[in-house]
Amino acid sequence: MTIGIGLLGLGTVGSGVAAILASPQGRHPLVGDLVLERVAVRDLHRPRPLTLPPERLTTDPEAVIDDPKVDIVVEVMGGLEPARSLILRAIAAGKPVVTANKAVIARYGQEIAAAAARQGVYVLIEAAVGGGIPIIEPIKQSLGGNRIQRVSGIINGTTNYILSRMADEGAAYADVLADAQRLGYAEADPAADVQGGDAADKIAILAGLAYGGPVERAGIATEGIDRLDARDVAYAAQLGFVVKLLAVAERVRDDAPAGPPDGVSLDVRVHPTLLPKHHPLAGVHGVNNAILVEGDPVGQVMFFGPGAGAGPTASAVVADILNIAGIRQVGGPQAGLDPLLAASSWRHCTLVDGSMSLHRNYVRFSTRDEAGVIGRIGTCFGAAEVSIQSIVQLDAREGEAEIVVITHEVREDRFREALAAIEALEGVETVAACLRTL
Ligand code: NAP
Ligand code: HSE
Repeated sequence: MTIGIGLLGLGTVGSGVAAILASPQGRHPLVGDLVLERVAVRDLHRPRPLTLPPERLTTDPEAVIDDPKVDIVVEVMGGLEPARSLILRAIAAGKPVVTANKAVIARYGQEIAAAAARQGVYVLIEAAVGGGIPIIEPIKQSLGGNRIQRVSGIINGTTNYILSRMADEGAAYADVLADAQRLGYAEADPAADVQGGDAADKIAILAGLAYGGPVERAGIATEGIDRLDARDVAYAAQLGFVVKLLAVAERVRDDAPAGPPDGVSLDVRVHPTLLPKHHPLAGVHGVNNAILVEGDPVGQVMFFGPGAGAGPTASAVVADILNIAGIRQVGGPQAGLDPLLAASSWRHCTLVDGSMSLHRNYVRFSTRDEAGVIGRIGTCFGAAEVSIQSIVQLDAREGEAEIVVITHEVREDRFREALAAIEALEGVETVAACLRTL
């Protein structure tokens, strides 16, 4: 029995999926049963890495969904609309959907899950987070018995590729970003990568699955690498750290009985972070991603692999297609979408205000190079009860100096208070950079 696939998009990921379907030899036998029936693109004349019979290509994505030969709809076109409406159209037609679109799932996951539950169709999203790393199914199912304390990780391949090459080769930011685009790692609008929005979409999805309820995407504090200064990457290295764009979702407290029944308060954020060189995530380089899940009783589990690109992402998409195809072939139930994203989620997740969170900091001050400045900065931190781990002058020329401070763990509001006082000090020009530190 063959299974008809309708592909919405034939770009980086779509071409990767089509290439797997076109070469089933040596793969799971079910791959041989998948037939690429229709493909929607924007531009019929664009050169493609593979040739398809022209009658299979269309610029009308709805025609793909409505085609009776299409059994499973694969959305790999990206963007919010028409992607969201097309996913809902496929569901309404009773067709299971596989999507790599984290932007849509992070914002409309509940709506899509509720529609899928009503229709009794699957919507699978393995490729939406971590590229080729299997993380959605493990977090949804294999770790389901745990009380998850923290999910943290490097979940944007483009920015990890940029940071790695900046650190290793001193490469210029703009050049490496252009390479990441050429290699198919970056989003159509790479602002989503470098400003942290893509990682925020992904951590919203992971947190929703790990903690059992939807996480408000708009409430995630997000800072990217677009304003990161190469000097801080170099200074961090001198001090024994690497800089990574980290996405974190951590349980702050359980809210019941004061809060909503079975509610949980979460600190969810994305920001460049200094990691000690021995930290498990510090050795994750290039386009690779890694997700560290900490739970009770499992302890620490880390998932590692290529986080973007045609082949790895297509691997995850095809795995989802095979899941659905396998269930169809044994005549299994159609209903069964991800219950944790569904409207019937079992827990209310509330995001906390990050000003109360505790963490270490790296801060770089531009100052005049004169006696007493380091002492005054130290005194100011002391007055605000911010304990300093190290304070060093790293560069000095023409009467100007760069002073870098690493603090011990401190509450964010107290740290900010100290920074404001230091900025007003005689001899301190500016707080030139401020990064969180693990
Ligand atoms: P892409 O290379 O820009 O490809 C998008 C494809 O969709 C193109 O073939 C484009 O047609 C087609 N398309 C876009 N809008 C369309 C419309 N309105 N009607 C018909 N066709 C349309 O994007 P991508 O990198 O493959 O990413 C696709 C999705 O996968 C996104 O949601 C992305 O976030 C996600 N994703 C990507 C990666 C990755 O490594 N690239 C990894 C994980 C997830 P034309 O070719 O004619 O322009
Ligand atoms: N632009 C994304 C990244 C693609 O670089 O991680 C994979 O989701």
